[in-house]
Amino acid sequence: MAVLNIVKYGATVLETPGDVVTEFDDELKKLVADMFETMYAAPGVGLAAPQIGVSKRVFVMDCSGGKDPEQRIVMVNPVVLNVEGEQTGEEGCLSFPGIFFQVKRSLRAVVEAQDTDGNEYEIDGLELTARCMLHETDHCDGILFIDRTTTLKRELVKRKIKKLTKAGRWI
Ligand code: NI
Repeated sequence: MAVLNIVKYGATVLETPGDVVTEFDDELKKLVADMFETMYAAPGVGLAAPQIGVSKRVFVMDCSGGKDPEQRIVMVNPVVLNVEGEQTGEEGCLSFPGIFFQVKRSLRAVVEAQDTDGNEYEIDGLELTARCMLHETDHCDGILFIDRTTTLKRELVKRKIKKLTKAGRWI
């Protein structure tokens, strides 16, 4: 297993929809293992393949931060089937280090996906689980959490990143 480099906002791959995964082979299993290692090392609770520069529809998440093995989730080719309710809470993203803001999401989400063997399954998640699945599924579609906030907030975040980039503190 290896800790991979996480790409930051500005990289084209983050805003490109990932390719559908069709091969459920050892290469996919290695990618997923590396993504878990990279996510735990960061540390973070979710990581999608585009964030390590791989334009594929895959994400890993663990809302327990490695404490509860049952919360290790891999979703390949995720599709949001149903959403319900609303929640507002602080969100961050490993591709936006140091940047956190309030994001409105659905309170509940049912997401269908495949595991690394290609078996279909679904998760009916609430609160943080729903938030995380929606954030990561967005990554697979090339959508970022700044796209889920107000225009004003988005512009403020972009301005901050522009300043950090000028100062050589971004990428
Ligand atoms: Ni993210």
